[in-house]
Amino acid sequence: MNIARLTPSFAMQYRTLMLQAYAGNPDAFTSTVAERSALPLSWWENRLSVTQNPIELVFAALQDGQLLGTAGLSFDAREKVSHKSTLFGMYVAPAHRGCGIGHQLVCAALDCARARSGIKLVQLTVTQGNHKAEELYGRCGFVQFGVEPFAVAVGDGFVSKVHMWCDLNAANGSN
Ligand SMILES: CC(C)(COP(=O)(O)OP(=O)(O)OC[C@H]1O[C@@H](n2cnc3c(N)ncnc32)[C@H](O)[C@@H]1OP(=O)(O)O)[C@@H](O)C(=O)NCCC(=O)NCCS
Repeated sequence: MNIARLTPSFAMQYRTLMLQAYAGNPDAFTSTVAERSALPLSWWENRLSVTQNPIELVFAALQDGQLLGTAGLSFDAREKVSHKSTLFGMYVAPAHRGCGIGHQLVCAALDCARARSGIKLVQLTVTQGNHKAEELYGRCGFVQFGVEPFAVAVGDGFVSKVHMWCDLNAANGSN
């Protein structure tokens, strides 16, 4: 298994994995299968496009050409928030959980953010009660800074989002 940045040739596989993520974990993701399955393949290809300073990029755990998990990183081109990046789309296929892939994906995203000029922090949101994900982020150096109530409507109710950030100049997190 290796962690690599995805290129547009993986768009179809990436789309399939993320649709599986949205369908299986409606509490964890804000996007729905209906919304994302309606998008053209070019939308997924654009997200994976390889440019010098991309606004979005995606890492994947790959084994024999198959995607086992993914994590995305986005940046903001606006000058006053260009020191921040956001981790998104964190997912590991159920059969491959609990063996460190999630940790390796977060580490790859943090290393990438650290290597990008001017980036000081990475932020993310995680659904309150998603202890597996919250603990993973904590092990990687993220700390909570707030909870957004009624953040996302799921079914007949709402879930809250825990906001976390990782100071890239601070400790690297535990292994
Ligand atoms: C959250 C998620 C990404 C974690 O992925 P993962 O690959 O299972 O993460 P890791 O393997 O790095 O860590 C998970 C657990 O396995 C343990 N682990 C890691 N390597 C291990 C190993 N070699 N042997 C035994 N246990 C191990 C970790 O300590 C951790 O234990 P804990 O949950 O008790 O703290 C995954 O559960 C997932 O995709 N969930 C659904 C989608 C989701 O919630 N995404 C987050 C949106 S914010």
